[in-house]
Amino acid sequence: MRVLFVASEAHPLIKTGGLGDVCGGLPAALRARGCDARVLLPAYRDAVTHAGDLKPVARLELPRLAAPVTLLEGVLPGARVKFWLVHFPPAYDRPGNPYLNAHGHAWHDNAARFALLARAAALVALGRAGLEWRPDIVHCHDWQTGLAPALLAQESPRPATVFTIHNLSYQGLFPHETFTALDLPPRLWSHEALEFHGQLAFIKGGLVFADRLTAVSPTYAREIRTPEHGHGLEGLLRHRAKYLKGILNGIDDKIWNPARDMHLAKRYSARHLGAKAANKAALQLEFGLPDDPAVPLIGMVGRLVHQKGVDLVLDALPRLMEMPLQLAILGTGDAGYETALRAAAARYRGRLAVRIGYDEALAHRVEGGGDIFLMPSRFEPCGLNQLYSLRYGTVPIVRHVGGLADTVIDATPGNLKAGAATGFVFGAPEPRALTAAVGRALALYRDRRSWNRLARAGMRRDFSWRHSAAEYLELYAGLVRAKSPRHGRSTGKSGRAKIKTGNRG
Ligand code: ADP
Ligand code: GLC
Repeated sequence: MRVLFVASEAHPLIKTGGLGDVCGGLPAALRARGCDARVLLPAYRDAVTHAGDLKPVARLELPRLAAPVTLLEGVLPGARVKFWLVHFPPAYDRPGNPYLNAHGHAWHDNAARFALLARAAALVALGRAGLEWRPDIVHCHDWQTGLAPALLAQESPRPATVFTIHNLSYQGLFPHETFTALDLPPRLWSHEALEFHGQLAFIKGGLVFADRLTAVSPTYAREIRTPEHGHGLEGLLRHRAKYLKGILNGIDDKIWNPARDMHLAKRYSARHLGAKAANKAALQLEFGLPDDPAVPLIGMVGRLVHQKGVDLVLDALPRLMEMPLQLAILGTGDAGYETALRAAAARYRGRLAVRIGYDEALAHRVEGGGDIFLMPSRFEPCGLNQLYSLRYGTVPIVRHVGGLADTVIDATPGNLKAGAATGFVFGAPEPRALTAAVGRALALYRDRRSWNRLARAGMRRDFSWRHSAAEYLELYAGLVRAKSPRHGRSTGKSGRAKIKTGNRG
């Protein structure tokens, strides 16, 4: 089985969030199971820097571009996964974030940059890139790759396509003029194709045209078919429900494993949970918090955006700061949240510490050194940080939503007694519900035996890629079978006719 991953991030080349973790980790897990998974990414400056040895292997014939487009081949550091970088310096050779400029605004030419990625993917997929390799499956991820299934759907024969929804709230919306400027087939301008309320929506290319859709947790796969979480695309997703499956993300336990984690002051395992204390002391020191082993230390790492419930934390702070706890936050994102958190840290010095920025090693140390990990997301397609927290015995407090609901088992008296509980789960997206969950956690924290039992129960859960990679392989195999002439069916038969989108449907 040959699978081409098309993505805008893949760790360790480039990462802004969980998408990067998944598009680095899943191909490696597939490869370990005998699947020839390869990755296609833009040659961002940072990706080229982290890529190690690269060699040009193909020159792509793409019309109307001012400079040639080449594919640079390399192997993902730490894995045996081959990747190709789409090298077109005018689009990708820039410093910093793949999506945003230094002022935090989207790059002005994002539509063209990701349309180019999709066109390059289509050439590789159709065997028109001059490579001696053609995929059976093209597996695309999020809006940045949405045009690839749409372009491939115009071709026959073609490989089967899978589109994974990591986050439906990012849709790649652009004005109609962009559609024209991109020179896309005119028939794609229809609300049964790429049009979404008068705009071009890249994500619809994936949602409408991919042969199969996946979402990154079973609960999210259901939620996105409702108005509350569908971002206007719920009608389309209901229409395609038969082809949509929730597959929970896994974690790469070569990278996220407290027994092997070189970022930690001291490595530890479930059997030697006591060694976590050294990591806590080191983290308190690093964040400038008082070195107090008895006070529960709550960590939080993530993009500082509305999705993550940062406002809930800010609103809950006056109450939280009256409780016996320390809070250490690492994140970067919306300027308003960054400013508010900085101000709060100045106000609650010694109890709240904030690091604004992106720091992979520090993220590991927060997981290793915290007692508790806070993830009060308003929505969460899967969430990896709570999975890392479980693995690190850092008890998660989460909202009952998306992948958080699928992975954390609330410490009710019954679940605690049965040894099933792994964290604290609250329902309402309100500061009061958050504070109540923290209160429950602090009460249990005082009972060290019960606390350690809870932490160990989380550490024993297996969220490695083992199960999820097997599910993807099954999905791919089903698609390849359906496409084989013997079955007389084509993957094109995927419920694409008469699509009604969003709240128009
Ligand atoms: P999302 O993909 O929505 O951002 P996830 O929980 O799936 O959320 O994944 C977030 C990933 O990004 C984790 O690996 C997390 O450690 C990492 N991350 C997020 N923000 C930061 C940061 N400021 N510094 C370091 N790592 C971060
Ligand atoms: C998205 C989601 C997150 C998920 C990640 C990887 O960024 O916000 O919940 O874990 O993708 O699938």
